[in-house]
Amino acid sequence: MRLLLRISALLVCACATLLAEDSPARPLDAFSYDQLRMFLKGYNGDWRPQSDREKGLPAPPATKSSPSNARRIALPKPAARSVDFKTLLESRRSVREFSMEPLPLADLAFLLWAAQGMVDTNFHTAPSAGGRYPLETYISAANVGGLKPGIYRYEPATHSLVVIDENPKSPEKLLAPCYGERTVAGAAAVLIWTATPYRTEWKYAFTAHRMIAMEAGHACQNALLAATALGLGACPLLSYHQSAIDKWLGVDGREEFVIYLAAVGQPARN
Ligand SMILES: Cc1cc2nc3c(=O)[nH]c(=O)nc-3n(C[C@H](O)[C@H](O)[C@H](O)COP(=O)(O)O)c2cc1C
Repeated sequence: MRLLLRISALLVCACATLLAEDSPARPLDAFSYDQLRMFLKGYNGDWRPQSDREKGLPAPPATKSSPSNARRIALPKPAARSVDFKTLLESRRSVREFSMEPLPLADLAFLLWAAQGMVDTNFHTAPSAGGRYPLETYISAANVGGLKPGIYRYEPATHSLVVIDENPKSPEKLLAPCYGERTVAGAAAVLIWTATPYRTEWKYAFTAHRMIAMEAGHACQNALLAATALGLGACPLLSYHQSAIDKWLGVDGREEFVIYLAAVGQPARN
């Protein structure tokens, strides 16, 4: 018993140390609720913010580039699924307990396509303000058929996965930034959306940020409904430590940072 307590204390210390590292000040504390609500309102509309686009500055790259030697894994094409839409909406529930069964790669492919996939050369399954598409979708794969555990990035244009880090330790290392959340511990995969704000700021200046938050909601809801259609369980998550998860993913936390997560897997059968 004493040994168990000692191990738990050590684990808590390890988590606290990890989370304390690079912890930013809490800048949101500096704003009043009225100021924070402005984020939701945007602006009154009786004047236009001067964006970098209007100033004639070049557009930032529309997508994240990968090193020339990056390895890609082609994904199965999204297959047609026919489900009654009302039943689909009624049956979506946040699922937090998963079985040990792997997530088939074809199911992961369908979820990713539903979240951010392309339907033709210009348009994606989810809407994006001004067609700026500021989100990237990463996958922490713990138990996906045919994939080594690790971190991958979905590339909508090629409907493939870019291998970021085929490291069996990566999925379990995600647990500390997620405060040990059991939903993350049991999931076959966690979808991770990052925002690259300047893609939208370039066109919409300071009104961009609420658009980006809305778009993360669109992407995640598409993935949740797709999971429901496939008989999978999924749960949206915001319980993560911002700088710790950005560090885990290897993004800089300023030009690109994590904005939303969804844990996915085969639901536990009771
Ligand atoms: C923005 C957002 C963040 C959420 N974060 C978490 C979370 O961190 N952990 C969790 O267990 N559920 C989380 N949820 C799921 C909600 O708890 C859940 O949607 C709510 O209880 C309603 O249940 P339902 O999704 O089954 O309809 C989140 C939902 C939203 C929309």
